[in-house]
Amino acid sequence: MEVVKTIKQTRTMVAEAKKAGKKVALVPTMGNLHDGHLALIDEAKKHADFIVCSSFVNPTQFGPKEGFDKYPRTGLQDQQKLTFKSVSILFSPPEYEIYPFGRNQTTVEVPHITKTLCGAARPGHFSGVSTVVSKLFNIVQPDIALFGEKDFQQLVVIKKMVRELFYPIDILSIPTVREADGLALSSRNIFLNTADRTLAPQLYATLSSVKYKMLAGEREFTKLAEEAEKRLSDKGFTADYFEIRDAETLERPSEGCSHLVLLGAVTLGNTRLIDNISLILKS
Ligand code: PAJ
Repeated sequence: MEVVKTIKQTRTMVAEAKKAGKKVALVPTMGNLHDGHLALIDEAKKHADFIVCSSFVNPTQFGPKEGFDKYPRTGLQDQQKLTFKSVSILFSPPEYEIYPFGRNQTTVEVPHITKTLCGAARPGHFSGVSTVVSKLFNIVQPDIALFGEKDFQQLVVIKKMVRELFYPIDILSIPTVREADGLALSSRNIFLNTADRTLAPQLYATLSSVKYKMLAGEREFTKLAEEAEKRLSDKGFTADYFEIRDAETLERPSEGCSHLVLLGAVTLGNTRLIDNISLILKS
């Protein structure tokens, strides 16, 4: 694995790989790699022979109080984890390589779906995500790119951006990788204190219980979501939202919509956790 800091070297290496007939996959991350990230790389290897993993803590997707400076940066451990994964390039650029003209210059905006759910609580977040992913796509020019369903709204936003800007890139996704107790793996989990870490799996447990109610025939989505949000608050979470949405558009489901997603966002202490479960309803 080559650790590459520059756009120029990344482009040269990817061009050589393509010339040799290799299929190129990009796995964008912010580093601090865990088994969720590694599962993305394993999936990438099933579809491509030249894997680029990017590691860049993107400042423009953090709000002023969202801990950009505190985000865990674990470069050496990340490199060790990737050595065993036969990644071709670990692209970990400095900020000036990605934002040479400053942070608030040309941006990519995906309208509407970025204003709801996490976008409502984190203004500007998805603009930062779509801008940096767009830059990474233009730098690497992969055939495929992989994202986790853990960040469901992010995945829908990227798919929309790719569709509307005609990026010739296939977007693949993998299911959320979880701890044994159900908590979704996240770089943020290290910020949970012992009591909050014990409580945290209840987010997934609550999502699961609503899923089973829906599969058992309950259809009053608003009531189900409100009850779930209250249950989370009663347990000690600060609930941001609990929503049942159309999994393709993230809009409130219309009559007969069968592919649904349940999404929850909560805060424990100062740590924001998100999770989701999607399901197909048979009419
Ligand atoms: P980051 O949080 O590092 O996540 C990188 C990728 O790993 C994303 O596609 C995310 O959905 C996926 N991922 C995270 N936790 C996961 C889990 N438990 N199971 C499966 N996949 C998981 O998401 C970002 O970085 C950034 O927003 C980025 C896309 C890199 C743009 O800066």
